[in-house]
Amino acid sequence: MELTFMGHSAVRLRTADHEVIVDPYLSGNPMAVQGPDDVDPGHVILTHAHGDHLGDTVEIAKRTGATVIASVEIVDHLAEQGVSGSGMNVGGSVEFDFGRVTFTPAWHSNSFPDGTYGGMPMGVIVEIGGVRVYHAGDTALFSDMALVGRRGIDVALLPIGDTFTMGPDDALEAVRLIAPRAVIPIHYGTFPAIEQDAEAFARAVQAAGDVDCHPLRPGQSLDL
Ligand code: NI
Ligand code: MN
Repeated sequence: MELTFMGHSAVRLRTADHEVIVDPYLSGNPMAVQGPDDVDPGHVILTHAHGDHLGDTVEIAKRTGATVIASVEIVDHLAEQGVSGSGMNVGGSVEFDFGRVTFTPAWHSNSFPDGTYGGMPMGVIVEIGGVRVYHAGDTALFSDMALVGRRGIDVALLPIGDTFTMGPDDALEAVRLIAPRAVIPIHYGTFPAIEQDAEAFARAVQAAGDVDCHPLRPGQSLDL
């Protein structure tokens, strides 16, 4: 399974047969090196509807016919724009052709840029190509991340930007709770308010225990 960091919280998960994108904020993303035309997903997963996560979802889904996997509220709202979706809610799992999706809690807020209510903000566990990925979405640190960790997480994508989500110190505590095999920091460096030293975070993670931390540049991939 190839995981590509696309900048901010946008991540592409690709196997020989399937391509899935989480939070495809590309054209408006000052850090992105790939645009909405550079992806060809069968599914788009959204953690919540804020503009820096919804991103190019509608354009991508209309061009590729991708199914949007998100809260029922988000899926219902996108249906009005002609996008097909699979509505879920926090705690639920569904088996798709590419693998299994489970939505987890996240401590955040969730509305569309136009103010429409988006349901619960969520994190997501994606099991694809034999790899279990936890994308925490936008969230504060919370102790139930330990329950996510009990599922056995191979890679945890954790926000470190602070201001709108947990910062590096709390993300380090999240690593202790989740105990994943590897960590990739996300949701930092895109705007001045979330500027962080990802290399310093990586050193702190490596020093804290037996966990690999990979601060990826936008466009960079990891084979898992
Ligand atoms: Ni957000
Ligand atoms: Mn965000």
